[in-house]
Amino acid sequence: MSLLDVRSLTKRFPVRGTGQWLHAVDDVTFAIERGESVGLVGESGCGKTTLVRLITRLLEPSDGRILFDGRDIGALPPARFTHTPDRRRIQMVFQDPLDSLNPRFTAFDTIAEPLRRLGTREERAHVAAQVEEAADLVGLPRTLLGRFPHQLSGGQQQRVGIARAIVLRPALLVLDEPTSALDVSVQAVVLQLLADLRQRLQLSYLFVSHDLNLVRLLTDRVLVMYLGTLVETGPSADVFEAPVHPYTRALVPSTRRRTSAASTAAAPTASSAARGRRPRCAPARTPSAGPPVTSPSRASPRAERAAARAGSVRRPASLPGALVLPASRAPRS
Ligand SMILES: Nc1ncnc2c1ncn2[C@@H]1O[C@H](COP(=O)(O)OP(=O)(O)OP(=O)(O)O)[C@@H](O)[C@H]1O
Ligand SMILES: [Mg+2]
Repeated sequence: MSLLDVRSLTKRFPVRGTGQWLHAVDDVTFAIERGESVGLVGESGCGKTTLVRLITRLLEPSDGRILFDGRDIGALPPARFTHTPDRRRIQMVFQDPLDSLNPRFTAFDTIAEPLRRLGTREERAHVAAQVEEAADLVGLPRTLLGRFPHQLSGGQQQRVGIARAIVLRPALLVLDEPTSALDVSVQAVVLQLLADLRQRLQLSYLFVSHDLNLVRLLTDRVLVMYLGTLVETGPSADVFEAPVHPYTRALVPSTRRRTSAASTAAAPTASSAARGRRPRCAPARTPSAGPPVTSPSRASPRAERAAARAGSVRRPASLPGALVLPASRAPRS
């Protein structure tokens, strides 16, 4: 049984004043095994954050199932989910540490908060010891535990965010671009920390990132998302070495050039074992069977027209701030 089993998960948002729906996450199916690190990549606006917010129950699914350890957590109302033992076993690290930390909480209080809210009686009786242990695990000096977020550096703030996420010893850590708000010099240190923690605490990761280099180095398997659907999944090394879907091919070439040197220094952990398997596209979206995706901006109007005919709208790929592929990275077919 997989740790996380997501089946046909769908999230539609109403588009105000149109009577139509935006399919932010559209019939997504995948699983995460115990101890596995899975990357989620795709352009801005393709639905990555919506997907992780569904999994962490911050959003209600429109359709589909979320099985955690075989239990259907997607069917529970959030209020009831909070009181299940599974609630503490899925934790999230957010993109912007300053944004996600309560400015009125010290580092100590931030890390202690999940223990006080979701901990067992035994855990609540020993909050200080566990906060200190979590701080040690993430390399946050105990002397900083009395500080407020604005008195910490970006890297220290993210260590607080990670300590908060691991203090309850979760099984699955969902990381939504955990280093993209950090200074480049700090990113590598935090990523190394995440790699170490995964080993030490035997965590599973769902790692969302725009940076395909990081995904290749930190994950065993990758999910490629495009317009709310998964278009390709497979062992990270294989997908980046030989992408099958045109959209993945559009993303990958520059990455491969850049990772070739780095990958010799830090190879993905479990991917080599899985290397015999081929990456595969979602069946309905293989290059031959699926729409001939040429570039996000060209695919979007077609998708929108098709969706409009079906009485719903697809989110445009070219959103403000969207990742725009330079011509040299556009797929050729
Ligand atoms: N609460 C909401 N109400 C309406 N639309 C939403 C809501 N949340 C997200 N969306 C829309 O759903 C789509 C997917 O958004 P999402 O934040 O999941 O993208 P993303 O892949 O995480 O993008 P980025 O890489 O920029 O973080 C977008 O078009 C977004 O505008
Ligand atoms: Mg996002």
